[in-house]
Amino acid sequence: MRMRKKKHLEERLSGVEEYLYISETEDRNFNTAINNKDYIDFEKWFGADRPLFLEIGCGKGKFAVAYAKSHPDINLLAVEKDSNVIVSACELAQREGVANLRFLKISAEYIERHIKPQSISGIFLNFSCPFPKKKYASHRLTSENFLEIYKRILKKGAEIHQKTDNMNFFEFSIEQFSSCGFALKNVSLDVHNTDFENSDENIITEYESRFMNLGQPIYRLEAYIK
Ligand SMILES: C[S@@+](CC[C@H](N)C(=O)[O-])C[C@H]1O[C@@H](n2cnc3c(N)ncnc32)[C@H](O)[C@@H]1O
Repeated sequence: MRMRKKKHLEERLSGVEEYLYISETEDRNFNTAINNKDYIDFEKWFGADRPLFLEIGCGKGKFAVAYAKSHPDINLLAVEKDSNVIVSACELAQREGVANLRFLKISAEYIERHIKPQSISGIFLNFSCPFPKKKYASHRLTSENFLEIYKRILKKGAEIHQKTDNMNFFEFSIEQFSSCGFALKNVSLDVHNTDFENSDENIITEYESRFMNLGQPIYRLEAYIK
């Protein structure tokens, strides 16, 4: 049964090849993977030289597809570590024929192997896993180790936009951004009761819909290097 499921996944992955880069880095030693650069030629892959944005932890791609379609002047690279999930995101992009969206299957710890320093114009972190247990805090996508990676790949003045439903994770993120030298703006404890609600930038993600249906407030911030 498991074999058939895996074969089915492989068939689906090969059906979206033009959208997807699968990094093999996880099989390697971390330092070897990071130090032996294998930069992706994004201009060639996208077929156009536009500012490159990242969404990290894109899930099934609802935000990525909507954001790329509404921002044809940018390139969006959606990063996700789970093959079973990213394949659905690629299929959605393919069905919708989105030209300025591509996907990188990788665990975000390794992205510097494929992405040049100071080449990214902005990062979206939408409903990242909160990893509530303290012993897993380093896995949170706003923990210091990740923020230091983002600092190296972001262009000067570029921003990170974060949304979450989890108050403890939001507080943790604010502390981490501050201690890593980021400044914060547009910090909201209930973004759907602010002007941002009616902005073109306010794209509701898959997880966001779930939490909104439960009546939970959505926390949001924008971070940039001072
Ligand atoms: C809670 S889901 C949110 C999905 C989507 N952003 C949304 O708002 O609907 C978090 C996603 O982040 C992915 N993820 C978690 N840690 C990651 C990492 N280190 N690198 C890449 N993806 C990661 C998970 O596999 C999962 O698909």
